[in-house]
Amino acid sequence: MKTNGKSTTNGNGKAVRLSLRNVSKTFRSPKTGEVGALENLSLDVKNGEFLTLVGPSGCGKSTILNIIAGFETVDKGEVLIDDRQITGPGPDRVVLFQEQALFQWLTVEQNVSFGLEMLKVPPAEMENRIQKYLSLVHLLDFRKSHIYELSGGMKQRVALARALAMEPEVLLMDEPFSALDSHTREMLQSEIQDIWEETRKTIVFVTHGLKEAVALGNRVILLTARPGRIQREISVNLPRPRYVDDKPVLSIARELKSEISNWSDPVVPESGVK
Ligand SMILES: Nc1ncnc2c1ncn2[C@@H]1O[C@H](COP(=O)(O)OP(=O)(O)O)[C@@H](O)[C@H]1O
Ligand SMILES: [Mg+2]
Repeated sequence: MKTNGKSTTNGNGKAVRLSLRNVSKTFRSPKTGEVGALENLSLDVKNGEFLTLVGPSGCGKSTILNIIAGFETVDKGEVLIDDRQITGPGPDRVVLFQEQALFQWLTVEQNVSFGLEMLKVPPAEMENRIQKYLSLVHLLDFRKSHIYELSGGMKQRVALARALAMEPEVLLMDEPFSALDSHTREMLQSEIQDIWEETRKTIVFVTHGLKEAVALGNRVILLTARPGRIQREISVNLPRPRYVDDKPVLSIARELKSEISNWSDPVVPESGVK
């Protein structure tokens, strides 16, 4: 069924923005031989949804994001954005990684405007976006600072502003906070919720932290160990902002942890999830 001329709707009446249909992916390399990363994975992401994908290290989370980003192709199945086949990267999808490739020798605002110049955004609109998105990440006062002058958390905020300023349809986040200290991580976990509430961007957020997945997602998809398949899917309807140590968050995280017995990542189980 067509809604706005470009997206289908699912049973809940919400437009489906991204679709993976029966996707399989095997990597072949001389060193490791064949590695089945994903097997027959199907997944819809709704417009405006904050979806978290969580699973043990090596289960194929980054592969899913890279496929959606258009960096990787699939062996079998289909990947669609707004009913169009994804055939490569595009400005409708922006990826944030754990370590950001920011230009150290440029200022904060130059980093944000870099991508906009590539998109040929006119100067007045560019200034609007710089102000809007640097305010959203609380960095407007630092617009003239150089990247090397900033803390890790501030750098991640610049990367977030740079991604948002491109005004993509979908924000793809691959363990974006895992290199930060726990205090900074908690601040950013809270801020990304504010940003999502304000912008209602479609976010696909990958993490290997169960508590983080539950604290952030409207819907959490738990993946099995490699090859990644969907083990469990739950909606989280707790009020925001949520924090990783909130009791209801912990209790859902604990329930999810019991689903996967061989979760051996050293960072998981996290403290508090017994
Ligand atoms: N480019 C690649 N070449 C070979 N193997 C790969 C490549 N990318 C990922 N893999 C393998 O695929 C599996 C899934 O990787 P990945 O998606 O990065 O997992 P995750 O992000 O969940 O930790 C891993 O076993 C990994 O080693
Ligand atoms: Mg990964």
